[in-house]
Amino acid sequence: MRLKVDLALKNCSQLLTLRASTPKKRAELKDLGIICDGTVGIKDGKIVAVGKASELKLDSKKEIDCSNKLVLPGFVDCHTHLVFAGSREKELELKLQGKSYIEILEAGYGIHSTVRATRRASAEELKTLAVSRLWKMLANGTTTLEVKSGYGLDLKNELKCLRVIRELQKLSPINIVPTFLVHAVPLEYKDRSEEYVQLIINKLLPEVVAGKLAEFCDVFLERGAFSLAQARNILKAGKNLGVAPKLHADEFNDLNGAELAAELDCVSADHLLKSNEKGIRELAKKDIIGVLLPGSSFTNFLDYANARKYIELGLPIALATDFNPNCWIDSLGFVIALACYKMKMLPSEAIASSTINAAFAIGKEKVIGSLEAGKKADILVMSTDNYNSIPYRLGSNIIEKVIKSGKVVFESSK
Ligand code: NIG
Ligand code: FE
Repeated sequence: MRLKVDLALKNCSQLLTLRASTPKKRAELKDLGIICDGTVGIKDGKIVAVGKASELKLDSKKEIDCSNKLVLPGFVDCHTHLVFAGSREKELELKLQGKSYIEILEAGYGIHSTVRATRRASAEELKTLAVSRLWKMLANGTTTLEVKSGYGLDLKNELKCLRVIRELQKLSPINIVPTFLVHAVPLEYKDRSEEYVQLIINKLLPEVVAGKLAEFCDVFLERGAFSLAQARNILKAGKNLGVAPKLHADEFNDLNGAELAAELDCVSADHLLKSNEKGIRELAKKDIIGVLLPGSSFTNFLDYANARKYIELGLPIALATDFNPNCWIDSLGFVIALACYKMKMLPSEAIASSTINAAFAIGKEKVIGSLEAGKKADILVMSTDNYNSIPYRLGSNIIEKVIKSGKVVFESSK
């Protein structure tokens, strides 16, 4: 009996399946589940068969010959701040003069300058800016994207941004996962951060929930942003309303963010540059995903998270771009390269961290992140026969085709 399919990807030199029922950690992280000379069968936008070409008999309406090609799941970018207006190009010079991220923020620039521009922009303008960024990300292989709010800050503007994020779902093939990020104390609440936290808990969060505007709630726990107690209160309030917690933890200072993320059973703890070992062990014990963002270390002249140590401690790791006005990186391929060259992750570990583990980091592991029957047919075809090329050819886009829900949505020109 031959299985009837709409599309078959045939003769794939290396087919990276990335099968996993739990987040990949330690040695599992480098196991990509490779099938050499593989075939994928797709029907109604989903994968229906994956296996060796010699063992799979498919009756396909359309075929793509993938000889000498690498085939893998679409990238999952599990941490971005996509929706904002304005630009922060000028801050590069301040950073080069030695000003730190927190100093720039406290001087009223940084996030605050993006907030001013985002508040001035209409929803329509924000949408147009975000959509053009989305298409670039798609061409770079991202098929699912978590998008955080966090540049409106007051009731009206934060809701405006979250509604824009919701509409983005219809404006490109990329799947969007929305997160409400409590990002900074707005300047009009300077020295009244507790009042702002109360506004978040009593007004904004209930509106976000009522409008079904976010799947996750995230807080920037940092000096100059929110304290541990404030982050705990906000995330607990979100949990009580049914919104799962995430945390920007220990990016510039060790504020026991990893421990807090473990205490609250966060879905992920992100950044983790300065985390202590106890905190990492607590995250690992609970299988909470550590989302590492080497792009933000790169653009902020910071150290990198100690990925090798974290892997040894059993932390399941994901990678993401952290795309934001201070870190304009829209390519997970580039982030994979940074993870290898700057954090000494193996290419295989970095690829697993940008696909299946990234899917776990946004609670979507049952539908995306690996090539398995029943999952969405979100697939990349690359013009190489082996996965080491992804970090090796770091300055060039080797993506030939992006397939989203079974349809070719991007094709590189020859
Ligand atoms: O994840 N660290 C906090 N938030 C962002 C940066 C936002 C900004 O600088 O605009 C991040 O790196
Ligand atoms: Fe971030």
